[in-house]
Amino acid sequence: MRLLDDVIPLPVTVQPSSAVFTITADTRVSGDYPEVAAFLGLPSSPAGDVRFVAGGDGPDESYSIDISDESVTVTAPAPAGAFAAVQTLQQLRSSDGRLPGGHISDRPRFAYRGVMLDVARHFFTVDEVKSYIDAIVAFKINHLHLHLTDDQGWRIEIPGWPRLTEVSGAAGTGVDGVGPGFYTRDHYREIVAYAAERFVTVVPEIDMPGHVNAAQFAYPSLTADGEPVTQRTDGEVGYSSLVAGSETTYTFVEDVIREVAALTPGPFLHIGGDEAQATTADDYRTFMSRVLPMVGKYGKRAIGWHEMATVDLPDTAVPQFWRTEPDDEATARAVAAGSQVIMSPADRTYLDMKYTPDFPLGLDWAGCVELDRAYDWDPADRLPGVPEHSLLGVEAALWSETLRSLADVQTMTFPRLPAIAEIGWTPRAARDWSSFRRRVGAYGARWRSGNIAYHPSPTVDWE
Ligand code: ACM
Repeated sequence: MRLLDDVIPLPVTVQPSSAVFTITADTRVSGDYPEVAAFLGLPSSPAGDVRFVAGGDGPDESYSIDISDESVTVTAPAPAGAFAAVQTLQQLRSSDGRLPGGHISDRPRFAYRGVMLDVARHFFTVDEVKSYIDAIVAFKINHLHLHLTDDQGWRIEIPGWPRLTEVSGAAGTGVDGVGPGFYTRDHYREIVAYAAERFVTVVPEIDMPGHVNAAQFAYPSLTADGEPVTQRTDGEVGYSSLVAGSETTYTFVEDVIREVAALTPGPFLHIGGDEAQATTADDYRTFMSRVLPMVGKYGKRAIGWHEMATVDLPDTAVPQFWRTEPDDEATARAVAAGSQVIMSPADRTYLDMKYTPDFPLGLDWAGCVELDRAYDWDPADRLPGVPEHSLLGVEAALWSETLRSLADVQTMTFPRLPAIAEIGWTPRAARDWSSFRRRVGAYGARWRSGNIAYHPSPTVDWE
């Protein structure tokens, strides 16, 4: 049987008792939030012994659970909290149906706990993304950032610009030309709806003004001289740029932003902004000063990689810190002016970094990231001038240059994403590596039985 604190992320308050509730063929769910309770996979009945109650006064994702010998009571102020409670119960439930007794009350440290999947360097299908969503929600991850465009491919259908996907989503796109595909608007809507049913907000990224070779290959009118560029499937960065002085650029960008905003119910639209080495600083400012207001015009809040903070930002804009340097003046300045920040330092949160130097998948430019390194840091200490209250949250990022399958994605994600999830949810003072490594050790058997690939990190005693 599990202990009441065998949960990742570790809940805020855990008070075990000697009770044991056993889920049997007769167990029923009842009460409020029936669509959420259904995720427990149990039948419902008005007098069910697993009761969901609308109540409590914390943030939407907060919840409490009381487990006695006779019943389980979940109390949550909103469906999102009931869903978080379901994830906790699924982790506590042993294969013979027993749940350890006691009381849990819980709420997140940060509102934004994300993971990014790069579907540009290698495309992943709707079904693969749905399967990934199923695996990440177990750890209370609530944002899925899709990196939809890059030099090697364009993966989202945009009306009026059909060659983006017909040409740059076709066979031969992706790193080494082996990751083709794109989402029609209906495919994307299907992902968004599936995510929303699981309380995950999709954050679409259109990376610009750099990382645009695929767009320029499809439409030479987007280049400086109007001449075609060659298709690129190598892993270089920093060589392509939209043209800041061309109105064609802004017609294109506005068409893309309008469409992606219309397809996305969530509040965020990520505009990239990273590694624009082929854009002068003046052109970068010109470009961002045109594009940031467009994001607002279509009702969205801009997220951008933290290079975006080198320009004056609307205070709703969110820089996402991704590099390894110990400080970043522009991000600190944006915070002083009122911006919130997402923390994704590559040497801790990049799921595409190798675990060990000889690991067959991944890159190593930010160093190797074994599980203890992914866990042993804190986002509120990461950058001078970027304290706890300025953080919107944390995000792990999985770039796909070396990935070829969903199993590759899973191997790089697990067990490191649970570490980042705990950093994003659990109060800092309650986090403890020795406790985490014990709790994550129970997961090997679950991932194996769920056919989810994972790295059996030697830092953990796997059950
Ligand atoms: C990034 O890794 N270029 C954001």
